[in-house]
Amino acid sequence: MSSKRKIYLSLKKIPKDKIKKKLDIGCGKNPLSLEFEGKITAIDKENLKLPTNVKFIKKNIREFKITEKYDLIIASLILHFMKKNKSIKFIEEIKKHTFSKKYNFIVCLGKKDNGFKKFPIAFYPTLKELENLYKNWNIIDKGDFKTDIEEHDNLPPHNHNIIYILAKKKL
Ligand SMILES: C[S@@+](CC[C@H](N)C(=O)[O-])C[C@H]1O[C@@H](n2cnc3c(N)ncnc32)[C@H](O)[C@@H]1O
Repeated sequence: MSSKRKIYLSLKKIPKDKIKKKLDIGCGKNPLSLEFEGKITAIDKENLKLPTNVKFIKKNIREFKITEKYDLIIASLILHFMKKNKSIKFIEEIKKHTFSKKYNFIVCLGKKDNGFKKFPIAFYPTLKELENLYKNWNIIDKGDFKTDIEEHDNLPPHNHNIIYILAKKKL
């Protein structure tokens, strides 16, 4: 099964009727949050052209402060761009700004990724570490896998270690 499919299958475990306000951090040009209908707030440092239901904020996450609560916050393949302690604090902010009984979907490059060797101070957690950060939430889904060989950004063919967690806030 492709990596993209694994991630989308996990997102499908969220009951769509329970999700109104969404925040997609480091959304990229194909935001995962578009799986859900209605308004989305999405952040990226690049200037992106996104559908009209997306309120796009061009901002570096290092300068972004979450000020409202959401039903679903997605941070997918973005947290490795920050130092470990900063990303952990950011996850705490994400958790705080989630309504009770609502969801976080966090996708990371994991510790077995080659990037970790190059940037050991950045956030490349293990699945256990992610689970620990969500130990007071219900874990709906989680995974740790290697992608198929990819070629992008002028790099030689390589694969990535992806870990993810879908967690639901308790009361
Ligand atoms: C690998 S893509 C992930 C896109 C999407 N979330 C996904 O999972 O398919 C990383 C995205 O993060 C954005 N990005 C990288 N560093 C950023 C930063 N410091 N602040 C905001 N966005 C950043 C990039 O522009 C890019 O769109």
